Amino acid sequence: MNKFTLSALLVLSLVVGCSKHDETKPASVTTQSSASTESSAGKVVGFSQIGAESTWRTAETDSIKSEAQKRGVDLRFVDAQGKQENQIKALRAFVAQHVQAIILAPVVETGWEPVLKEVKAAKIPVILVDRGIDVKDESLYATLIASDFVAEGKMAGDWLAKKTEGKANIVELQGTPGAAPANDRKKGFAEAIASHPDMKIIKSQTGNFNRNDGKATMEAFLKSEGKNITAVYAHNDDMALGAIQAIEEAGMKPGKDIIVVSIDGVHDAFQAMVDGKLNCTVECNPLLGPAAFDAVDAVTSGKELPKKTIVKDELFEQDKAKEVIGSRKY
Ligand code: AHR
Repeated sequence: MNKFTLSALLVLSLVVGCSKHDETKPASVTTQSSASTESSAGKVVGFSQIGAESTWRTAETDSIKSEAQKRGVDLRFVDAQGKQENQIKALRAFVAQHVQAIILAPVVETGWEPVLKEVKAAKIPVILVDRGIDVKDESLYATLIASDFVAEGKMAGDWLAKKTEGKANIVELQGTPGAAPANDRKKGFAEAIASHPDMKIIKSQTGNFNRNDGKATMEAFLKSEGKNITAVYAHNDDMALGAIQAIEEAGMKPGKDIIVVSIDGVHDAFQAMVDGKLNCTVECNPLLGPAAFDAVDAVTSGKELPKKTIVKDELFEQDKAKEVIGSRKY
């Protein structure tokens, strides 16, 4: 199979979360391995995960671990506790263990060149999952399987513009500084509201993609801006759920007094929509295990992969939440 055919196959065969016709079931993202592709059974694969900062991240970890088990892969899993230095150490340890491939979910975009050069020198292919990196030499990784974070931010911004008829005082809860989804979701949202002069981001700070920090940052926003705030844009659901708690503790009604929009589509976010506290979430599918191991199999069989496979996302509003919550997989 030539490079073009394989790329087309991988892109076309992505099975993505929720389609309008398929009643919003977030299925695993899969690629179809060709019959000639080697199977994963018995392979030793390293997986460097960022941590467990969000429900989304745990769902991604579970997807990769369970797919490894299903395929008989010897998975070496290392949780970096949110630190790039720990991920770099894990990659070096994988080289020392002579793994056959590495799956990397990188915490931040920059600073990967030196260690990836060492991995490349050891002839170990690297599959990036969910977040991209900023490197001059793209041969330092085999492929990236991820959502389009700019598009997600834009979807959230367009939705808020429509909901508020272009008038909002927004507070923004950013993800981990330097992370691709934090950078890109900020950019996409800013692009969407740029043509609405009465939509203003009045405060913007990190909540580190976790619930506690999201709540603490929202408390600080409420303290300084109070009732001036009309909307919250959170770069992920966990921070939005923390913000919702802070709004309630301040005696206001999230979803009514303050509109809340976020990204991920985790089960708790759907519950918050059912409860009327969250207005909208943009799904970002974390079920990347099948696609990641299809990529491992392809690349270890000497096949070239497309540099990027984009996972498609969909937006969910409150009115749909009740109908689909029972079919959510994460
Ligand atoms: O990279 C994906 C983002 O990272 C998810 O939106 C977030 O929940 C996670 O921690």
